[in-house]
Amino acid sequence: MLLIKNIKGLVQVRDQVVDRVSGAAMSELPVQEDAYLVIDNGNIVDYGSMKLLPELQPKEVIDATGRYILPGFVDSHTHLVFAASREEEFVMKIKGASYADIAAKGGGILNSAKKLQQISEDELFERSIGRAHEIIRSGTVAVEIKSGYGLTTRDEMKMLRVAKRIGRETQLTVKTTFLGAHAVPKETTKTAYVDLILKEMIPAVAEEKLADYIDVFCEEGFFSMDETERIVEAGKRHGMKPRIHANQLHRSGGVQVGIKTGALSVDHLENIAQEEIDLLRNTNVMPTALPGAAFFLGLPFPPARQMIDGGLPIAIATDFNPGSSPTGNMPLMLSLACIKMKMTPEEAINAATINTAAALELQSSYGTITRGKVGSVLITKPMPSIPFMSYAFGSSLIETVILKGQRQKF
Ligand code: NIG
Ligand code: FE
Repeated sequence: MLLIKNIKGLVQVRDQVVDRVSGAAMSELPVQEDAYLVIDNGNIVDYGSMKLLPELQPKEVIDATGRYILPGFVDSHTHLVFAASREEEFVMKIKGASYADIAAKGGGILNSAKKLQQISEDELFERSIGRAHEIIRSGTVAVEIKSGYGLTTRDEMKMLRVAKRIGRETQLTVKTTFLGAHAVPKETTKTAYVDLILKEMIPAVAEEKLADYIDVFCEEGFFSMDETERIVEAGKRHGMKPRIHANQLHRSGGVQVGIKTGALSVDHLENIAQEEIDLLRNTNVMPTALPGAAFFLGLPFPPARQMIDGGLPIAIATDFNPGSSPTGNMPLMLSLACIKMKMTPEEAINAATINTAAALELQSSYGTITRGKVGSVLITKPMPSIPFMSYAFGSSLIETVILKGQRQKF
C-alpha cells in the first residue's frame, strides 16, 4: 500500500466515472485541497481531506507538501515506433523547402518506411523503447501507438508487435492501431495498395490480434473519403474500431467519414469549419487536436473555442512522430492548447485526461482520480497553482510518476 499525504491539490478527483466532458463542462476541474491518496494493488483505493486521514499501515509513504497530483496523461494518438528521426527534413523546411520538395527528395512517410523496413523487430524495439521511457517521464501513463511506417504486411505487423511489446515491458497501458493506409509505397499503385490492405494486411493483423483500432490518413494526395470508408469498414468486420486522420491539410471529408463509420475519434482538424462542428455535435466521435503537429508544421490550430462553445468535447494528444511532431510531451501540449488554441488550463487538463481516455475506451480505468481506477498518477514539483503547469511552458514540472502503484525510477 502506498500513501501519498499532504498533497497541495488532488486534481481531477471525481467519485463517479465520467464518460467525457463537453462544452461548458470542460472548464470544470474538481480539486481536493490538502489531500491524501491511497493506492493499493495497483489501484486507487481511497482519497480525501488530510483532516479525515484514517489509520493506515502503508508500506510506502510519500510526502507531497507543496505539490499537486494529477491522473497521469492519456496520449490517444502517437506514432512512437519508428526507426529514425528526420531532422534533415526539418532543416530543409527551415531553408524554405515545401512538403512536396521533401517528398520528391525521398522524404516524408516513405523515408521513414524505407528505414524501418531495413531493420529487425528487435532493433526497432531497441530504437523505440527509449521514447516510451521519455513519455513516462513527462507524465503519460496510457498511450495509443500506430503502425503506418511499414507499408508492407510484414513490416506493419513488425511495428504492431513492437508496440505491443512496449506495453509488456513497461507499465504503460498501450492500445495499438493499424495504419497501413498512411501513404502509398512508390513501387505500387493506389488501387493495388488499397487492395493489399483489404485482402492481406487487415486479415493478417486481425489473425494475430495485433490491433485494437484501424486508422486511415484521409487527405488529398493520400486516401480519399471513399477509400477511407472501405478500409475502415473492412477493419470493423475484423474487430478493429475506426479512428481517422482527418482534415489536417484540407477539408478532406475525414470528419464526415468518421461520423458515418462510427469512429472513436477524428484527429488533427486543423481545417474544419462550422459545418463539421455542427455535424460532430451529439455524436460519440471524439474531436482530437494535435497541437504539436500544427505548431511544428506551421498550420492553423483547430478552432477549439468555436468547438467548445459549440458544445463539443475536445481531446488533446501529441501525435509523437518523426515527421510532424517529434515530441511526446503532454505538458507541452497543454501549453500549446492554452497559448495557441485559447483553451483554459482546466479545459486543457480535461482534454488530456478524461477525453483522451474516452477516445481509447479507457474511461473506466484512466483519466480521473476515482476509487477503483488504475493507480497511475503524476506528482508535480512544488508549484504555486494548477494553471502554472500550462503557463511555464517548456519547464519540466513533473517530479514523480507512479504507474500501476509503482514509483518509476528516472
Ligand atoms: O499524424 N498525418 C499523417 N501522419 C503523421 C505524420 C507523418 C510523417 O510525416 O511521418 C501525422 O502528422
Ligand atoms: Fe498522426
